[in-house]
Parts: sequence; C-alpha cells; structure tokens
Amino acid sequence: MTATRDTLIGSARECCAKAHAPYSGIHVGAAIRAVSGAVYRGTNVENAAYPLGNCAEASAIAAGVQAEGSAFRIAEIAVWATDQSGRVLAASPCGGCRQRIHERAVDGGVRIHFPWRGNEVRSASLDELLPYAFTLPDTRGAK
Ligand code: THU
Repeated sequence: MTATRDTLIGSARECCAKAHAPYSGIHVGAAIRAVSGAVYRGTNVENAAYPLGNCAEASAIAAGVQAEGSAFRIAEIAVWATDQSGRVLAASPCGGCRQRIHERAVDGGVRIHFPWRGNEVRSASLDELLPYAFTLPDTRGAK
C-alpha cells in the first residue's frame, strides 16, 4: 500500500511530536515515501552549539539511506511543524533541505507537502521550490 498525502502528513505530525527542539521551540517532523514504498521519518534534533542541530528532513533522509543505501530515492515528502504548545506553524523546507531533497529525489516532480499560513496544507513540486538546482557533473555516479 502506498502512503497517500494525508497518511504521509499524519506520519510527519506524529514524528513532529518527538522533536528535540529545546532551543528554538520549533518542533519539526518529516515523513518520506521512498520509491521502494517504505516510509522514513525524522525530527529536528537541536544542540547547544546551535549550528550542529539537524533538520527533520535531513534526519528522515538519513533514515532512508541507512535502510536502503545509495539506492534510496524520495518519491514524496511531507513536513509538519508546531511550536511548543502544539500550534501549527507554516514550514516549507529550508533552502539547505531543498538541496538535500534534490540530491535524493527521483526527479523534480517530487511532491512536497507542508503546513502554510492560515492552517492550510500546501503542496508543491521540488522544481517549484528549488528551480535551477545545483547538481554536480555526472562523473561519479552519485545519482
Ligand atoms: N528546521 C527543520 O527541521 N527543517 C527545516 O526545513 C527548517 C528548520 C528546524 C531546525 C531548527 O531545529 C528549528 O527548525 C528552527 O530553525
């Protein structure tokens, strides 16, 4: 069974509740449906040395690579974010995470779902969020 958008968002919401974000108070969860059909999740994990913190999307990608190695490819991803009291925050993936998603995405059509202003869930393609993405010349078989 493939995860629908709503179940993927539900998964990101569950994961968001597990975030370790004592410094920013911004809890983020991400859920990725891989091309394999498996779902991988991650939360943000902050650190007292602030730049060392991990974004939720990066954690979910790490879980996918841990399970599937370099064959891991993203088919669809959902992100969720709340403040400490559980209020939903607008949260599309940050610039760095857009690049991380690009590296593992099956193609630029990958759908990204995220909460946006006014309590709505928006969906956009990776190409919409990261046009003209940076890609290394294909000399190393990286993708
Ligand atoms: N954060 C994510 O987890 N994903 C993003 O795409 C943007 C930001 C986290 C990092 C940090 O723990 C908190 O949100 C506030 O910036």
